[in-house]
Amino acid sequence: MQAPLFAVEEPQAPRPSVGVSAPLGTPVLACQDNLAFMEGLPDGQFKLIVTSPPYNIGKDYEAKTSLTAWLEGQKRVIAECVRLLHPQGSICWQVGNYVRKREIIPLDVVLHPVFAELGLKLRNRIIWHFGHGLHCAKRLSGRYETINWWTLGDDYTWNLDAIRVPSKYPGKRHFKGPNIGKLSGNPKGKNPSDVWTFPNVKNNHPEKTAHPCQFPVELVERLVLAMTEEGDAVFDPYMGVGSSIIAALKHGRAAWGCDLMPEYVETARDRVRQLRAGTLRTRPMNKPVYDPSLPNGGH
Ligand SMILES: C[S@@+](CC[C@H](N)C(=O)[O-])C[C@H]1O[C@@H](n2cnc3c(N)ncnc32)[C@H](O)[C@@H]1O
Repeated sequence: MQAPLFAVEEPQAPRPSVGVSAPLGTPVLACQDNLAFMEGLPDGQFKLIVTSPPYNIGKDYEAKTSLTAWLEGQKRVIAECVRLLHPQGSICWQVGNYVRKREIIPLDVVLHPVFAELGLKLRNRIIWHFGHGLHCAKRLSGRYETINWWTLGDDYTWNLDAIRVPSKYPGKRHFKGPNIGKLSGNPKGKNPSDVWTFPNVKNNHPEKTAHPCQFPVELVERLVLAMTEEGDAVFDPYMGVGSSIIAALKHGRAAWGCDLMPEYVETARDRVRQLRAGTLRTRPMNKPVYDPSLPNGGH
């Protein structure tokens, strides 16, 4: 028997339809295998599908398998995600390395042909840099993973202004040429580039739950703001404790997600309740990263 779907505060509520008609405040959070969850959903509805799949490195929530078997599983899930993707939509697949006898295999390299053969186009390979992780003795310690941003077509939703960051020299002006005296940069701020520094969710992070590898909410918020409009639907097929759900709801998007592990889904439900109550702690977008060389770490 399939595990039941549930809405956060209305366990008996019927499953809402996807898209603009989905009730915005009521995320659909399923404790279910993602292929089973996606099977019944209509084509072309999600504006953003953002996720981080298991990397096949033996975490509590995954059975370590061969890279070939992992890839076959990913192909099936990605093909279903592409079916569900809105024509102007984006898929953001966040991955790191598979490690085999100390050899690293970057999973985005392995996955590139899968997305490309399904007709998607890679727009950015965003480097997510973070400060903490395992200390390696025989190679350099890994301090980044990638978010691979794919779109179906060339006409995709893209709101750069929504994610601009403060310019280094906001008052800088052209000193020669036809625009002399005018501001040389965009007064709304600069493009955040394809290298993003967000602290990863370790024990001292305000968002930490029992999940071993959560997304920082601020990372998903940036994707949601840039790649969707208010009222659009966002889906995370490996939802974990619902960080993508929180990011979507914070910005008035409909949120859908599923995960196999009941305890993670329960935590996701709880986080949504806290968000509604105004008690959920999330690290603010654009808060500077702690810098021990500055007074109070620069905060
Ligand atoms: C890397 S974690 C994602 C964490 C998530 N980004 C968050 O912020 O909490 C991958 C998740 O995929 C879930 N998972 C693994 N296989 C799954 C499947 N077939 N269907 C749905 N979820 C699955 C695991 O339980 C785990 O929580």
